[in-house]
Amino acid sequence: MCRRPDAEAFDQMRLLLIGAPGAGKGTQAELLAARFGIAHISSGDLLRQHVRDQTPLGRTVKSYLDRGDLVPDGLVMTMLREPVLAAVNGYVLDGFPRTVDQAKASYAVVRQLGAEVQAAIHLAVPREELMRRLLARGRGSEDGEAVIEHRLEVYQERTVPLLDYYAGREWMFTVDGSRSAEAVHEDIAGRIQKLADMIAGPT
Ligand code: AP5
Ligand code: MG
Repeated sequence: MCRRPDAEAFDQMRLLLIGAPGAGKGTQAELLAARFGIAHISSGDLLRQHVRDQTPLGRTVKSYLDRGDLVPDGLVMTMLREPVLAAVNGYVLDGFPRTVDQAKASYAVVRQLGAEVQAAIHLAVPREELMRRLLARGRGSEDGEAVIEHRLEVYQERTVPLLDYYAGREWMFTVDGSRSAEAVHEDIAGRIQKLADMIAGPT
């Protein structure tokens, strides 16, 4: 694969998107994956695919997704191991890790492989905008109003502590995710380029 001009100080770019349901993790992950030539790994998309395919994992996790509860850590970690290890050109993770426990457990695994996350990106979007987007999208049982409310509560309780965790360990930044998808993307890409320049040092 030819080397991209963007953010070329990274041999293997490894990014993580953190944001509430509807914040645009999937949308931004797609754009970043295309721009930097890295894999997009979405825990939610993979879980929904297992449900559609009615695999044993899909049958186990369906009720969690329908309720908007988190799937047990061990199941998600096992599911993601292969795609993360296969992403030899780098990755953007969307929806994982989602709790401090998941972050700690996955760090222990990927560290040995030198594949730990380099930058965590937090998409900040006001609650009313999240509700508007998710109700407009209507992704089956997951996007009913009561389930959306519950997903937002779970985010607040289980995922928001992850922001402090990453702020203390990795290079993390928050972007205003309420703008157009293109504006958010350009903001993120610009900051990643700065990080890459910093890593490369003075020329
Ligand atoms: P997951 O699939 O990760 O869902 P989520 O966090 O609820 O987020 P969404 O995918 O709904 O939103 P998003 O932030 O990706 O936004 P999107 O780009 O789609 O998880 C689903 C379930 O799986 C969980 O509830 C849990 O059960 C389980 N799960 C997943 N990961 C897990 C884990 N690690 N551990 C345990 N359980 C796990 O955008 C949303 C909408 O807004 C779209 O219609 C889009 O077009 C629109 N939009 C996006 N950006 C913009 C913009 N800038 N302006 C206007 N509209 C926009
Ligand atoms: Mg998503």
